[in-house]
Amino acid sequence: MPMKGKTVLITGANSGIGFATATALAGMGARILLVCRDARRGADAQAAVADVATEIAPKLLLADLSSLHDVRALAEELHRHFPKIDVLINNAAGMFSERGVTGDGFERTFAINHLAPFLLTNLVIDLLKAAGSARIVNVAAESPLARLDFDNLQGEKRYGFLSAYFRSKLENVIFSNELARRLEGSGVTVNSMSPGPTRTRFGDNMTGLPALFPFVMKRLFPGPESGARTLVYLASSPDVEGVTGQFFLRQRARTTRPVTLDREVAAQLWQISAVLVGLPADFLPAVPQSSRSAA
Ligand SMILES: NC(=O)c1ccc[n+]([C@@H]2O[C@H](COP(=O)([O-])OP(=O)(O)OC[C@H]3O[C@@H](n4cnc5c(N)ncnc54)[C@H](OP(=O)(O)O)[C@@H]3O)[C@@H](O)[C@H]2O)c1
Repeated sequence: MPMKGKTVLITGANSGIGFATATALAGMGARILLVCRDARRGADAQAAVADVATEIAPKLLLADLSSLHDVRALAEELHRHFPKIDVLINNAAGMFSERGVTGDGFERTFAINHLAPFLLTNLVIDLLKAAGSARIVNVAAESPLARLDFDNLQGEKRYGFLSAYFRSKLENVIFSNELARRLEGSGVTVNSMSPGPTRTRFGDNMTGLPALFPFVMKRLFPGPESGARTLVYLASSPDVEGVTGQFFLRQRARTTRPVTLDREVAAQLWQISAVLVGLPADFLPAVPQSSRSAA
C-alpha cells in the first residue's frame, strides 16, 4: 500500500531491525511512532528517522514493555493522540542468560516477547480497525526445536535462555495465527515473520557462557537493513494486501510447524495470556470452528 500519510507504530524502534524498518518506512512517506524504553536512545533514533522522513515527523513514545502498566499507558496515549493506526509492528524483544521476573511477577522473556505484544495489540485493535485497511506484523523467528509446554510457560520448572527465547517466538506465531482468525473480515491483516539471522545489538545484555552465543554468531550475519527487508515488505507492499495468518521469511510465505496451526493450543495460549494481563475473555472473541470450516 502507498505509505504516504500512513501511521506506523513500531516497538523497539531505536535499534537493529526496528530502527532499520522505521527509517525505510519514513523514507516512503509514513509517519513513524517509535516505541522505545530509554529516553535518550529513543530521542537519538527519533532524530535519525526525522532526517530521512519525507512527510510527517516521527513521534517518540516511551514505554518499558516489561511492565503491563506501561503497555496500558502507551495504549491510552495512542488513543489520546491518534485516531487510527495503519500498521502495527510488534518488534521489541529480549533474551536473558538467567531467569528473572518483571515487576508484575512474570518471567521476563515471556513478559516482553509475548505478553506485551498480546496486550498492546488487543488494546489498540480499535485504532487499527479505524484505519479501514490495516496490517499487524509480529516479528518472530524460525523456532524448529521450540516447545510450548503449558506447565513450563514461564520457565518455572526449567529455564534455558534459548528455550525461553524460542518458546516466546513460537508464541508470537501462534498468537498471530489466532489473531488473524479473530480478525477475519475486519480489514485488519495479521502476519508473523522472521528477519533471519541479523547482526544487531540483540543479546548484548547476555552474561557468562550464554553471551558467547550472540557474540560468535553475530559476526557471520548481515546487518539490520537485510533483516528489515521482509518487515518493510509486509508493512507496505501491495503484494500482501489482504494476506493474513501467514509466516514470512525472505519475503515469502512459509510453512510452519503443525503446532502453530493447532487451534486448541492457540485458544489455550490466548486464554492464559488474557487472564495474566487482565483482559476479559470475550475482549476479542474466538471464531467458532464450525463457522470457519463453513466459510
Ligand atoms: N537479530 C537476529 O538475528 C534476529 C533473528 C530472528 C528474530 N529476531 C527478532 O527481531 C526483533 C528485533 O531484534 P533486533 O535483532 O533488532 O535486536 P535489538 O537491536 O536488540 O533491538 C531490540 C529492540 O527491542 C527493544 N526492547 C527490548 N526490551 C524492551 C523493553 N522491555 N521495552 C521496550 N523495548 C524493549 C530494545 O530497546 P533497547 O535499545 O532499550 O534495548 C531494542 O530497541 C526481535 O523480536 C528479535 O526476536 C532477531
